[in-house]
Amino acid sequence: MKQEKFSIPIEVYQDESELQETDRRLLAHAEQQVSKAYAPYSHFKVGVALLLANGEVVTGNNVENAAYPMCLCAEQAAIGAASARFPDVAVVSLAVTVFHEKKVIDQPAGPCGSCRQVISEMEDRHQQSISIIMRGTTGPVYKVRSAKDLLPISFSGAFL
Ligand code: THU
Repeated sequence: MKQEKFSIPIEVYQDESELQETDRRLLAHAEQQVSKAYAPYSHFKVGVALLLANGEVVTGNNVENAAYPMCLCAEQAAIGAASARFPDVAVVSLAVTVFHEKKVIDQPAGPCGSCRQVISEMEDRHQQSISIIMRGTTGPVYKVRSAKDLLPISFSGAFL
């Protein structure tokens, strides 16, 4: 037996003012989208903005349901919208930010496991890695260069 360690390259910014212009703008789009979230059950609103290879920005937000497991994550809403509008265009980056109606989220909220899998599939589909920029409502911004960095030893269509 031997032990191996995986390490994740992650860029940590004190706040969004340290980001490059393109990433800062994308995060601002995500922030605008937060107000459109439908989250009457969790009170946790999520906004996502995708930058596509053709320069388009496509946004999405979470859409909850009284039947809780049917809640739609913002990342999946955004990727669904991009896939519908621009099926042949790669996504190059994704920004996600959140707002909780009852408390301050001061650290980045990373995409859930299902969303990581969906973003990873999008990377495979277009052979393009997707940078993920994450921020809470306030606080630092984290940036990783690919969904694969958040999903080591992942499952993919390559197994099928
Ligand atoms: N949520 C997202 O939109 N994205 C994630 O990656 C994690 C969770 C939403 C789903 C639900 O509406 C609320 O956040 C609380 O789980």
